Amino acid sequence: MNNDTKTVYIGMSADLIHPGHINIIETAREYGDVIVGLLTDQAIASYKRLPSLPFEHRKRIIENVKGVSKVIPQETLDYVSNLESLQPDYVVHGDDWKTGPQRETRERVIDALRGWGGELIEPKYTDGLSSTALNKAVKEIGTTPGIRLGKLRRLMEAKSIVRVMEAHNGLSGLIVEHSNVHNDGKLEEFDAIWLSSLTDSTAKGRPDIEFVDRTSRAQTVNDILDVTTKPIIYDGDTGGIIEHFTKMVRSLERLGVSAVIIEDKQGLKQNSLFGTDRPQVLLEKDAMCEKIHAGKQAQVTAEFMIVARIESLIAKQGMEDALDRAKAYIAAGSDAIMIHSREKDGEEIKAFCNAYNDFENKVPLICVPTSYKHLYESELATMGFSVVIYANHLLRSAYPAMKNTAETILRTKRGEEADELCMPVKEILTLIAD
Ligand code: SPV
Ligand code: MG
Repeated sequence: MNNDTKTVYIGMSADLIHPGHINIIETAREYGDVIVGLLTDQAIASYKRLPSLPFEHRKRIIENVKGVSKVIPQETLDYVSNLESLQPDYVVHGDDWKTGPQRETRERVIDALRGWGGELIEPKYTDGLSSTALNKAVKEIGTTPGIRLGKLRRLMEAKSIVRVMEAHNGLSGLIVEHSNVHNDGKLEEFDAIWLSSLTDSTAKGRPDIEFVDRTSRAQTVNDILDVTTKPIIYDGDTGGIIEHFTKMVRSLERLGVSAVIIEDKQGLKQNSLFGTDRPQVLLEKDAMCEKIHAGKQAQVTAEFMIVARIESLIAKQGMEDALDRAKAYIAAGSDAIMIHSREKDGEEIKAFCNAYNDFENKVPLICVPTSYKHLYESELATMGFSVVIYANHLLRSAYPAMKNTAETILRTKRGEEADELCMPVKEILTLIAD
């Protein structure tokens, strides 16, 4: 075969390189010059978990693999736009994509190649070497504080909206870590963990008034860190006085927490979902700016994020106040803004977003849609949100389930009827097995 002018295209993620990748590249080389379309973090995150290594690292590795002539980004899971601009003679892909979620992608490759007489080559898939299996092995090994810390920023860059779920102990951490569903060939899961002050307090049967102290909260963080790999956003309440907040930042960073959110309230902190049923005293804007600035000065890594949470709408201080504070907090160095609202119809939050989107100087926006729960993630993303936090749902759903079991036993005076409300004993043993 005269390969001189032929080109061969391979699309790959190349996150965890294994001999299966090398087999594909070796086959491709027999047909011509090998161009690797390396899936970007965005392309990968559109259908499964963010890769362990960022694009630039994966690019360096694959560029240095024998037989690869060139590496270009493939911005989507779909090959067509790259194929149309390159018009390669061949595409090489393992035959595992003939069935399963990638079937449609394959059909579109075949259709595109037909346009210029290109050919699809499908070597037999190398059994037992899937990157999904390797990913699982890596996950079992765990993560480090530094890797975990940096992951939130990577997720925010790669995903249209980052999905965060509350955890309040090791067990709920496991649920956030492992829950997933397959939807239209995509793997849906939570990207990060919210260390809620409300649910951490509730799990201890105490009010959410900054009474559960930092040492105790740190213990909860530690329990969750022990059994998870996903990034953590810590609810720092008011952050306390500046001298305490700067120390909080350092401790969180050392643990590998990615971000802290502090709210612009003072005095006895009351949960925002009370609205004005309880006194909600806002901290003066300048004092909040000073706290944000001090936190930014205190942090050690470049990746850690300090997020200002605006409570103007909760405290009924008006939209102008909320927008004015947003501008000031951004100028003070806030890495993102969390805007809180408890209005059910979502109009208030939409009005904020509309005005915010016109700001010249913007940072990512975070929402907690406990009240405006009818809005889909896609709608929140369109409004301008980069992160959505489901702030209390695991605890709120656990409580009625536990109460029902307790009442069932009280009613029936034995365990039989309650048993069907419970997970099988075998399941609980394997859930926490080594
Ligand atoms: C939390 O989860 O503790 C929060 C969000 O701060 S909210 O409960 O809505 O105030
Ligand atoms: Mg809170």
